[in-house]
Amino acid sequence: MKTRVWIMLVLAVAVISMSGCKKKDATVKEPEAKPEAKEIGQMSANKESFGITPDGKQVDLYTLTNTSGIRARITSFGAILVSLEVPDRDGNLADITLGFDKLDGYLGEHPYFGAIVGRYANRIGKAAFKLDGIEYKLAANNDVNHLHGGIKGFDKRVWRLEDLSVKGAGAVVKLSYISEDGEEGYPGNLACSVTYTLTEDDKLQISYEAETDKKTVVNLTNHSYFNLAGQGTGNILGHELMLNADKYTVVDEGLIPTGENRNVKDTPMDFTTPMTIGSRIGQVEGGYDHNYVLNSGGGTLALAAKVSEPTSGRVMEIHTDQPGVQFYTGNFLDGSVTGKAGKVYQKNYGFCLETQHFPDSPNKPDFPTVVLFPGQKYSTVTAYKFYTK
Ligand code: GLA
Repeated sequence: MKTRVWIMLVLAVAVISMSGCKKKDATVKEPEAKPEAKEIGQMSANKESFGITPDGKQVDLYTLTNTSGIRARITSFGAILVSLEVPDRDGNLADITLGFDKLDGYLGEHPYFGAIVGRYANRIGKAAFKLDGIEYKLAANNDVNHLHGGIKGFDKRVWRLEDLSVKGAGAVVKLSYISEDGEEGYPGNLACSVTYTLTEDDKLQISYEAETDKKTVVNLTNHSYFNLAGQGTGNILGHELMLNADKYTVVDEGLIPTGENRNVKDTPMDFTTPMTIGSRIGQVEGGYDHNYVLNSGGGTLALAAKVSEPTSGRVMEIHTDQPGVQFYTGNFLDGSVTGKAGKVYQKNYGFCLETQHFPDSPNKPDFPTVVLFPGQKYSTVTAYKFYTK
């Protein structure tokens, strides 16, 4: 009897101590998992609904995050970059792009906030060009000229989701769109894709690809308006800008290049050494809205621009393989648009650096070619790199 009680006691102690061990194990493991750290910045790619277009098409909103906490939101409507939250020198996030909180804003008239612009970004003079002796007439939506792909450009189309994932390169969303033969006047069915990749080293990279079944012209860009102090907080005249360009394309009254590439030296156009955007803007009629000829010549990924904002310490570098960049200082913003968080966008509240081929290239044989042949692949990259100082 005594032995049986003894054995039971020993067993009970063993069971209690084992369960104790288990508990101990669980508490030991918790700190290793660092749940708080994961919540702040785990690399992720998610999808939610952004609404429905008037013609009944479902529109999505994709969110990419990286471990520094950078968050980029992209919608399938116009492949638009809806927001981009980036830390300042104290680690505080702010949304540094202009735009709208809801799909409704993007469905209405707006000056291409965050949009992917195509089939031809920027202007084509007299809304026409020739290929192999055939004249193609495009939609004239900027007086007599064609601007940013026409009346219903790529910025107003619903793109298809091809990939939403986290992989070695980063958090990725890839969207595609097929622009049909004759759309806005362009020849050839053009199959396009745009891939946004948010990397672990704080870069938002946009890659563009396209293929055609008929000779055509292509020039794709992203039309984000940036304010590195935070969207809607004021004008961008105090931002410091460096443009890696010794020349710009001179334009006529309709902003169509005359064909002359002029040296920026000793003029208010010169940003080869860093200068505040506002320092000489008063000497440029209407403000900056010019295509700069990048010193790299295009073809390989190279530094095109560097912008820094003194109060937040945010710095943005733009690297591109394109030969040009349109520097635009939001000259047409006039307080008539209310954007994200109820902010009213006044003149110069954002700047754009649209990496691109030169305006009116289809009519300028001396400019780098924008012609795409069947069997050829259009493939370009622009990367926006963020850090603080
Ligand atoms: C581009 C053009 C500008 C203007 C804006 C949109 O940057 O160069 O002239 O059309 O787009 O408002």
